[in-house]
Amino acid sequence: MSDPIAYERDGDVAVLTINNPPVNALSQAVRQGLMARMDQAEGDAGVKAVVIVGEGRAFIAGADITEFGKPPMEPSLPDVIDRIEASPLIVVAAMHGVSLGGGLEVALGCHYRIAVPSARIGLPEVHLGLIPGAGGTQRLPRVAGVQAAIDMATTGRHVKADEAHKMGAIDVIEDGDPKAIGIAYAQQLLDDGAARRPVSEMPSPEGIDWDATYDAVLARGRGQIAPAKAVRAVQASVEKPFADGLLAERDIFIELMNTDQRKGMIHAFFSERAVSNLPELKGVTPREIANVGVIGGGTMGAGIATAALLSGLRVTMLEMTAEAGEAARGRIGGNLAGALKRGKISQAQHDAIMDKALQVSTDYAALSDVDLVIEAVFEDMAVKKQVFTKLDEVCKPGAILASNTSYLDVNEIAACTKRPEDVIGLHFFSPAHVMKLLEVVVPDKTAIDVVATGFALGKRLNKISVRAGVCDGFIGNRILSTYRQAADQMVMQGASPYDIDAALEAFGFAMGPFAVADLAGLDIGWAVRKRKRAEGTMPDGATYADKMCEAGNFGQKTGKGYYDYAAGAKARVPNADVMPLIEEDRAGTPQRSFTADDILRYYMAAMVNESAKVVGEGIARRPLDVDMTLLFGYGFPRYNGGPLKWADIVGLDDLLGDIKSYAETNPDFWAPAPLLEQLVAEGKTFDSLNQ
Ligand code: CAA
Repeated sequence: MSDPIAYERDGDVAVLTINNPPVNALSQAVRQGLMARMDQAEGDAGVKAVVIVGEGRAFIAGADITEFGKPPMEPSLPDVIDRIEASPLIVVAAMHGVSLGGGLEVALGCHYRIAVPSARIGLPEVHLGLIPGAGGTQRLPRVAGVQAAIDMATTGRHVKADEAHKMGAIDVIEDGDPKAIGIAYAQQLLDDGAARRPVSEMPSPEGIDWDATYDAVLARGRGQIAPAKAVRAVQASVEKPFADGLLAERDIFIELMNTDQRKGMIHAFFSERAVSNLPELKGVTPREIANVGVIGGGTMGAGIATAALLSGLRVTMLEMTAEAGEAARGRIGGNLAGALKRGKISQAQHDAIMDKALQVSTDYAALSDVDLVIEAVFEDMAVKKQVFTKLDEVCKPGAILASNTSYLDVNEIAACTKRPEDVIGLHFFSPAHVMKLLEVVVPDKTAIDVVATGFALGKRLNKISVRAGVCDGFIGNRILSTYRQAADQMVMQGASPYDIDAALEAFGFAMGPFAVADLAGLDIGWAVRKRKRAEGTMPDGATYADKMCEAGNFGQKTGKGYYDYAAGAKARVPNADVMPLIEEDRAGTPQRSFTADDILRYYMAAMVNESAKVVGEGIARRPLDVDMTLLFGYGFPRYNGGPLKWADIVGLDDLLGDIKSYAETNPDFWAPAPLLEQLVAEGKTFDSLNQ
């Protein structure tokens, strides 16, 4: 491999340029190169200052994450940074793009820092289940104060150059070529007779109430431990001499490196990037999309339209009547007002979208010129077929016809058109302008450039796009339906909905399944059950869930469902009417007690087993596709990596054992996934199928 650090002289200044595309991660070769080039500068007669700068799009994006979990290789990053800081020469970091994690730590090891205005800094290690491991929690508080350091180390947020300058982390901001401004700044420091300025020699900052801060950060982390640990590391910068503080930070870093949470978070980091990277799409040019049609302006359609408008697309919204069209415009307007309030768009952009980019119509002819149309009407095959037959008549050749159905057969929808190659499923999650997941559902006859367009649209809308095959519920809703049934089974066998929600919220889900049901509205499932009973596809007789709805308890929107929301959504308490109704239904079912661990195992076994079936049948290409679907669409805790990464971590043997024991009383529901059995037999993990 070519030397990743270039060395050059500019008068009294030596320039070390890091060239390790794409983002100058601190690989072993880069660390070693920095050591060697510092030696070279110090041995180079006449050199009085060193500038460290990054080639390409960033200063340094941090440690090389691909090395995590492998045996450490010398030199370590802390040693490299100590070596830079200890240099008798004046060392300047010239920063552009991002300086993240170890990248910021290298900059803090330099004696002075200059950055271009567009530069950003951050300590994103918490997003990987870690804390900074090379002095970041010791040096940053010394230049920027404890509050700024805690904020950055616990949230991982990127801080823009001007804010970083105000907090003291960057000395000078100047526009221009990073190398040129770095050299000029180093020269000026030399001319001014400036001294070396090691951050490690600066006084410790003032302390705060550490325990209260630790508790607050721990609570905010919903079970994630790294952010709270970062508080303890910053505490060490105040309470210990610098060298001891470094050791304290290192101990916590190593402790976290060995956790399952770190494994889960790093799996999520790489999977998030790999999920839309499909070999068959390499070199395929997506179709041009500028003009999008959306049919149906309910919550979902309005959300999809909002997402498209915010990404700069023009949208024609089709509704049945002028009144419904106005209501849809109102919903989109409400969403955009929210975006304006949060500073996502300016007033001028907001007005341009509402006045020009959005059209509302009741006439299908208005869709004759759109490049892509997304149908978001009622979930009924007959209605969908009517819509697609009509679209087939009016849309221009080459236009993509997409359905936002959440479980219906997209092959059947495609078959009612004369252009099944242009038909695809684009399954958004409500609210569609907020939720990150997009399932790109690919029926049998879809053209490859239509699939590529689905992914390109997802990227444009800032979504995580997952390829799904056609089946009832695709990836996400199919798995959801199974683990929801497992939750309902537990309720009948003796666990209360509240025990179940509590166990899953302790696992890290933002909400348990019954709290989610209250949020989504219990009337939706009730309507489906009533329809199925009328069709004869479900046994007669109202269940406790039906009786809750008969009493008008539809969840949050009526103030009562499984929970009572009289004191607000956050202060929910169990609805006292629910348990007696459940008790009536339990009559005749053998009862048992469930610990939180029993609940988690039962629920997760159902989720993993169905996920394995979804992968085994090819509905999801790889285990990571399931993991990302659950993470971005269903609130699965990121630090557990996704159901199949979690399964690998707890061990597939044990899980299969659980599934087989549950199958003794309910063999149909608990039939083990053939893929899971195969992996256990071969001693392999789900992750082995991601490679
Ligand atoms: N190590 C290894 N590879 C990395 C990397 C890193 N630190 N950061 C990014 N990459 C890779 C990505 O995997 C991706 O690879 P592919 O093209 O093969 O998929 C490529 O670089 C480009 O990344 P993105 O697609 O994410 O590009 P972007 O422009 O959207 O974002 C970024 C760039 C802001 C740097 C983003 O990649 C990012 O946030 N990276 C992680 C930064 C990070 O967490 N740094 C801290 C590391 S931990 C640390 O430093 C601990 C310590 O103290 C020792």
